[in-house]
Amino acid sequence: MSNPAAQAEPNPISFVDLKAQYRAYQPEIEAAIQRVLSHAQFINGPEVAALESALSEFSGAKHVVGCSSGTDALLMIMMAEGVGHGDAVFVPAFTFTATAEVPLLIGATPVFVDVDPDDFNIDPTNLEEKIEAVRAEGKLKPRGILATDLFGLPADYTVLQEIAGRYDLKLWDDAAQSFGGAMGARKVGTLCRATATSFFPAKPFGCYGDGGAVFTDDDDLAATMRSIRAHGKGGAKYDIVRVGLNARLDTIQAAILLAKLPHFSDEVERREKVAQAYDRALSGVLTTPVRRQGRSSAWAQYTVKVPAEKRSDVAAYLKQAGIPTAVYYPMPMHLQTAYKDLGGGPGTLPTSERLSQEVLSLPMHPFLSTEEVGKITSSVVSQFPGRRN
Ligand SMILES: Cc1ncc(COP(=O)(O)O)c(C=O)c1O
Repeated sequence: MSNPAAQAEPNPISFVDLKAQYRAYQPEIEAAIQRVLSHAQFINGPEVAALESALSEFSGAKHVVGCSSGTDALLMIMMAEGVGHGDAVFVPAFTFTATAEVPLLIGATPVFVDVDPDDFNIDPTNLEEKIEAVRAEGKLKPRGILATDLFGLPADYTVLQEIAGRYDLKLWDDAAQSFGGAMGARKVGTLCRATATSFFPAKPFGCYGDGGAVFTDDDDLAATMRSIRAHGKGGAKYDIVRVGLNARLDTIQAAILLAKLPHFSDEVERREKVAQAYDRALSGVLTTPVRRQGRSSAWAQYTVKVPAEKRSDVAAYLKQAGIPTAVYYPMPMHLQTAYKDLGGGPGTLPTSERLSQEVLSLPMHPFLSTEEVGKITSSVVSQFPGRRN
């Protein structure tokens, strides 16, 4: 059967429009790259320190340590904290693989925790159950909680901090998707002891390759991570004081981020406006993302819940209509081939399992026009006859 929407749409809508963003800031971005080409300090050039201090000012975190990816940012935190063999790190099951992979890379064990069915972040009740279970079993030492701010909404760091304090655990933020979000006046980067973010191009604050950063107020942690990202070096260049990584942030990427930073707050506001327009058109039709009092999202994704049996048909219809969608994530961590031997199995984390069947992310970026949002929402609404609000 033909799809009239597809015939009427000459230019497909972008899921994330990096070309539009480049066109908007082209002179600043090209000048920034050109400066690096001219000074030729491609590694540890002045833009890296300049970006770190600009991000420190932006976020309110005392230290920002740039690095080569969000995954390496998580790894640097775990290494600097001395997490290792025999340690349990509590992570949400409904997240990107890096959250689970990093504890394993350093010999620790990720313990998967179910998530809140409404905001998709780690569920404090199930977290406590999992901590108690690990303590009762006595095989692993509970060391820390690595909370993901899924789709850009900060987890509830007030509640998580209270739990971490009660069980003497460290609390860390996987903010790969949430840089630009906040809890009240406190921006992501300052919500717990150490925060990792990603500058992957499609993230709310992205560069043109891989990149990441850690935010912390802790002087020792920051100094250790600066050493770790440069092969564990000490005071002198070839003085190696710990096992480290090659996890530096490239100068060109830092320069691109510096050029984009003055526009970032405006972009987050534009994402919020897109989210509000989606909310207005779609609430009552399907389950739109929840808002949490006092917490603002960076809107890395706008993710709705669609009845599992309808999801692939809705996605296929939208694709035919020139509207890309994505499923983040089609399988929770405890069911992944690489992690399934860690003890979980089907039915053990029911909310994560159900969400993986129901979630559908719609196009989300600051350059979506009102017309594009209207086309997306009317196409979605057309798939739910009788449920118009
Ligand atoms: C929740 C989460 N954690 C970690 C990462 C890893 O970031 P990167 O791709 O920069 O290594 C991502 C990236 O998609 C992510 O979404």
